[in-house]
Amino acid sequence: MAGISRTVPAWSRGAIAIGAMAVVLAACGSGKTGSGSGDAAGRLSGRGPITLAQGKDTSGNVQNQVNTWNSRHPKEQVRLIELPEDADAQRQQMVQNAQTKSDAYTVLNLDVVWTSEFAANRWITPLPKAQFDLSKFLPPTVQTATYRDQLYAAPWKTDAGLLYYRTDLLKKAGISAPPKTWDEMKTDCGKVKGVNCYAGQFDKYEGLTCNFSEAVDSAGGVVVDDQGKPDVNTPQAKQGLDFLVQGFKSGLIPKEAITYQEEPARRAFEKGNLLFLRQWPYQWALSNKPGSSKVVGKFDVAPLPGLGGPGAPTLGGHNLAISAFAKNKATALDFISFLTSENTERANLLASSEAPTLASLYGDPELRKKFPYLPVLKASLLNAKPRPKAVRYGDVTAAIQEDAYAALTGKMTSDQALADLQNKLGQLIQP
Ligand code: GLC
Repeated sequence: MAGISRTVPAWSRGAIAIGAMAVVLAACGSGKTGSGSGDAAGRLSGRGPITLAQGKDTSGNVQNQVNTWNSRHPKEQVRLIELPEDADAQRQQMVQNAQTKSDAYTVLNLDVVWTSEFAANRWITPLPKAQFDLSKFLPPTVQTATYRDQLYAAPWKTDAGLLYYRTDLLKKAGISAPPKTWDEMKTDCGKVKGVNCYAGQFDKYEGLTCNFSEAVDSAGGVVVDDQGKPDVNTPQAKQGLDFLVQGFKSGLIPKEAITYQEEPARRAFEKGNLLFLRQWPYQWALSNKPGSSKVVGKFDVAPLPGLGGPGAPTLGGHNLAISAFAKNKATALDFISFLTSENTERANLLASSEAPTLASLYGDPELRKKFPYLPVLKASLLNAKPRPKAVRYGDVTAAIQEDAYAALTGKMTSDQALADLQNKLGQLIQP
């Protein structure tokens, strides 16, 4: 069990009782044991059936993992509850579930940007750090699972924006390497006829926050600085936003991309309609599956391009937390341990190309053979910039989405949008 080293073997009944007690003591010792709403809050005790709540499983592999667990734990079955595909809609349902103190969701597959909000509101139970071998996880992923030095979740899947590009079309045009800058990308597009140049996810939802932040960071700007202070009304941020605004105006980005979330963007690329696409790692396996994809074996991934050199992706991903209002938290902890173990993460990478959180898998020779882009992915992950860490993250992302969308659709100039955003973020984020 690589992800989490339990102090006792999880499979021995007597030992489990001791293990569960140790967990309860560790959680109580932290002094931050959930909402105090009844007995269950903050305690990792109780065994029996549980649920895993998460967004629609676009990887297609989560149910397989649940089935593997269920076949080994007949009395501690897990039921997968799939929420909508859109990250904001997932958050809304999880927040509602927590506000009504419902025990319907046990394990929450939380987007990395929700940890602070869920922890500060005591909707999730702190996890005892000593139970996790955190040194095995990529360090930025552990940061996303932590709030005020307390661990609230186990890093499960990480994410960074990558540039998907058509190797066949670039080769035909005599281009030997993917673009490192936005200008190079434009030049390449000028040489390849019959396909759209570039797309990302520009619908008004969390994906736009990621794409906007990447554009700003890739031009040398920031949304919030290293101390967490908003600083988005700058010439650098404007150059980043203008890359997208001008992209829509000039037709470099096709008009329909303003409606794209991850899946429509993936489908456009798989139909052969795009030369370049900004997308998460999960698409690699799906686009290489014969059947609906017309680009099997005809694409590769590279770091995102930027203004004067390689860009800076946004750090995405998902962590596993335990709802403060759930029953059977001891089972939940074991299930989280199973999902974040080396065996399970390895199998998931092989099946889905989703980025694992365990560092060792990026150096595994067999995996590198199957996924030659693993070094590019790891470098992108370590170079990725987190989104603001805010308790009021829902309001923060809504502000970013509103102003970025207004600029992309011509309702505001880039200057107006950035000034407005700086003003709103200043009120919402107090580092
Ligand atoms: C991916 C990322 C997540 C991000 C979401 C936006 O699922 O892992 O962090 O918020 O995309 O759509």
